[in-house]
Order: sequence, then structure tokens, then C-alpha cells
Amino acid sequence: MALNTINPTTTSAWKNLESHFAEIQDLSIKDLFQNDSERVEKLHIKWNDFLLDYSKNKIDTKTVQLLIELADQIGLKKAITDYFDGAIINQTENRAVLHTALRAEESAVVAVNGFNVIPEIYEVKRKMEQFTNEVISGGRKGFTGKSFTDIVNIGIGGSDLGPAMAVEALQFYKNHLTTHFVSNVDGDHVHEIIKKLNPETTLFVIVSKTFTTQETLSNSETIKKWFLQSAKQADVAKHFIAVSTNIEKVTKFGINLENIFPMWDWVGGRFSLWSAVGLTISLAVGFENFNNLLKGANKMDKHFKEAPFDKNMPIILALLSVWYNNFLGAESEALIPYTQYLQKLAPYLQQGTMESNGKSVGRDGKPVNYQTGTIIWGEPGTNAQHAFFQLIHQGTKLIPTDFIGYVSPLYGDQDHHDKLMSNFFAQTEALMQGKSEEQVQAEFDMQGLSIEDSNFLLPFKVFSGNKPTNTILIQKLTPESLGALIAMYEHKIFVQGVIWNIFSFDQWGVELGKQLANSILEEIDTEIVNGHDSSTNFLLNYFLKNK
Ligand code: F6P
Repeated sequence: MALNTINPTTTSAWKNLESHFAEIQDLSIKDLFQNDSERVEKLHIKWNDFLLDYSKNKIDTKTVQLLIELADQIGLKKAITDYFDGAIINQTENRAVLHTALRAEESAVVAVNGFNVIPEIYEVKRKMEQFTNEVISGGRKGFTGKSFTDIVNIGIGGSDLGPAMAVEALQFYKNHLTTHFVSNVDGDHVHEIIKKLNPETTLFVIVSKTFTTQETLSNSETIKKWFLQSAKQADVAKHFIAVSTNIEKVTKFGINLENIFPMWDWVGGRFSLWSAVGLTISLAVGFENFNNLLKGANKMDKHFKEAPFDKNMPIILALLSVWYNNFLGAESEALIPYTQYLQKLAPYLQQGTMESNGKSVGRDGKPVNYQTGTIIWGEPGTNAQHAFFQLIHQGTKLIPTDFIGYVSPLYGDQDHHDKLMSNFFAQTEALMQGKSEEQVQAEFDMQGLSIEDSNFLLPFKVFSGNKPTNTILIQKLTPESLGALIAMYEHKIFVQGVIWNIFSFDQWGVELGKQLANSILEEIDTEIVNGHDSSTNFLLNYFLKNK
């Protein structure tokens, strides 16, 4: 079953949202709180150990109701069923989209073209568990009989960002193995990593769904060459393993069949950390923790599938984002986790969000006549406060921001945590409340500032406030809660793609750059280049002359 192809702007809900926007656009979030004493009661969701407070948004209960009507009119309910049931919803690649099956229970039945995929998922999971245990326990040895101390994940995009983000996020749960990530085709990147390694004790995990990606193959070849300076060809089998769908190419590289962890074409790269692509996560934190990550995601999957739309975290987050993107003209969203552990969450979700929803052709094959994918960016708080919060507070742009925080710290340092969380709460309050002229003037009076200085400084010290935020407060950063958090954002991406009538699971835009880079690579050894536009010819010839 294909997804509907409805231009959202043609629905009555969309038109109602436009008139509703005209009605409430002059109200500030502060006014909206004043108008409804039960606002926060109505505009929050509690689920498991997650709390989402979305009351500090430029919405009222009617906005939510109309956004839900939009989701209904688009056919979101059916789209969710198709997504989980393995329908071919990635139509331009003729594939199902089943990262959710990777974290389903063993008793589940999920069929792709009539074939239940759950048994093979569990077969791979068992292989991952056994392999992980052998490496962590030291039972699996390198070519000189020594146990492994270092793991290098070689991959890019979804074959790097997910594992790198999760390993960083779960650092607290990490074992003795040191993990490294090589992704960029920049030779300096791989050589910096090689510098730190001992070939006798390093295990290389090559992750590439296609096993054709230039970056990953180049880095793997460079690393293999370096490895063979100390070892024999036959030793490659002990130190190199692969995660891929392309068994033929992997075996050609010299990797033994038993060291290949399969994945499937119905797992998109940017949603693949739940598959064997997550092997480095499993090695870093142990299989049980990896499995708990999957369990947390599965719980969020159930919440997403079963909760009514108005109590459904991913759906509410997606609808709010549509509201800001399409009715209020916001161009980007910030994501600020108040934990250093989630420093790679924004780059990870940049791929998830922007590769998925950065599309301008609708599912009907026609150019869309409305805005789609938002730009995602962010950094952990409080660092972000000292970097770019000025622009969120007093700049000219509307930047809806998600604040993600945890009730309990992992090392139990309450003093630090209270300071951290005071900032967390203070920021969303300040962004909403701002600071009025009267408040600023009162401060000046207290300081005894002259009238002249007060008049000069006043406009600069006023904050308009009225900046929208979501607060996502989670009990503790555990593998399970991390899994649920990532799944929540995955489903947000899905819902937005459904509403925007685009195909969220292909990435043709990335292919063009790959093709052009390959053709330029063939010319980069020549004397003079003249087959491009004049700027590209000029740049290439400058490079050729000076390299
Ligand atoms: O960036 C494009 C892309 O195809 C991503 O979707 C994918 O995650 C990445 O390249 C890596 O691809 P592969 O796992 O096939 O090497």
C-alpha cells in the first residue's frame, strides 16, 4: 500500500489553520497563559519516565485541535500502520521502511513481501551478542594472540553518526575498549586515528550498507595497507569485520563470510543504528545495554502507534514543527540537550531530519508549493548559552527550540546538576517572558543610573520574549531512555514527511554530489581542465598548479 498523495494546503484543516493563525498571531505566549489558567495541564504529555511540556508555544488548544485535524485529513493513522507493517512506503527505491522491526519483540511478525523478517533480525542479534561477548571478554584474539583493546568504526553518514552519537551518549556505561570513528575521506582524519593504534590489538568494523561508498572504501583500504605493514594478508580476517548488504564486495575486500553482519535494504542508513550497524555500540557498552537501547525504542514505537494523537509525543512535536514551519515561517529549529553526553545528538538528527525531509517534490511527483524540511542545529547547554543563545533571545529570527534535560545526573553530583538544571529552567522561562522596559528601568533605578545613560541603554536591554520552546524532561540518561528519545525524533520526522506529502526515506540529492566528485577525481591527475563552468575550471586549475 502506498502513502496518500494529498497536498496538505488543499485540506480544510490547512485553511482553518491559516485563519486561526490570523486570529492568534498578535497574542504572546504570556497572554495565552493569562487567558487559560489550566494551560500547562492541557499542554503537556507524561509518558513512561518522559515529560513533554509544550505549553510555552505560540499555540492554544484550538491550534492543537486543528493540527490534529490536519493529520487526520492527511491520513496519518493509516500511514503509521503502513510504516510499521512493512508497506513499500519508500516508493522511489521500492522499499519498506522497517527500522522499527529491528527493535520489535521476537514474537512479533513483520512481513516484507509476505516474508516475516523477525527471525533473521534475531539471528543477527544473537551473532552480535556472541561476537560482542568474545571481544569484551578477551576470548577473541588478534593475529599475535593478544586480546583487543581498540575498536575502529569505519563508515560515514548513517554508518557513522548513529554509532558515534550513541557511544558518546552512553559513555557512562562503557567498558575497557577504546572506540574510534573514521568517517571523512580526508586523509588527515584517518592518519590521526591510525597514529593512536596498535595493529595487534585493534579490531576494525567496516560499516557500509552498500559497500560502495568512496569515503568508507578509501579509509578501509588505507587502514588495511597500514595493517599489512605488520601483519599478513591472512590476518585481515581476524581484524576486519563488516556490516553490509553487499556480501560480494565485502568478501572481495578480504573479510571472511562468518565476519560479515548482514543488514537489509529495508533499513535506511540514517535509521540503522538498531541493526548490526550498531555493533560498535554493542562492543562499547556491552550487548545488554545495546539491547536495552532497542527496548527503549520499542516502547516509544508502541506509544507512537497506540497513543491518541493529542497524547502522542512524536506527533505533537511534529505538528508543532509544521505549525512553525508552514504558518509562522520559522526556518530552523534548535535542539539543546542539557547534558554533555548528547553533544552529538544534533549532528545525528541533522542527517535524520534534513536527509529525510529536505525534499521539494511531492509524492505526486509535482513540486511542492509550501515549505518542507526544517534546518536542525544545536549544542549542549550550558555551552550553547555562551555561544549562540544571544541570537535566540534578541535576534530577528524565530527559532523554536527543544530543551532536553534529565532529572537525575549519572555521577550523583547534585551541586553541579542543580546548577545545570537551574539554567535549563531559567532559559525557557526567559525566552518566553523576556524583560520589559519597566523591568529594565527598575534595575537602572536600583543601580542609580543617570537618566541619560538609562535612555541610551534601555532599548538594548529589553528582551521581547515570546520565544517558543518545548521542554523534554527525562528521569535519567540510560540506554533505554536514549533509545526512546531517538525513536521519538525518528517518528517526528516520519509524521512531518507524511504531512508534507514527500518521500522521507530516499536521498537522491546526495547522489548527484557523489557522481560529480567521481568524475572530477578522474581529472585531478591531468595537466589542465576545461570541461566545466569557468569558475570550476579556474579553481581546479589553481589546485592542479599548486598541489
Ligand atoms: O549520505 C548518503 C548516504 O547514502 C546515507 O544515507 C548513508 O547513511 C551514507 O551515505 C553511507 O552509506 P553506506 O552505509 O552505504 O556506506
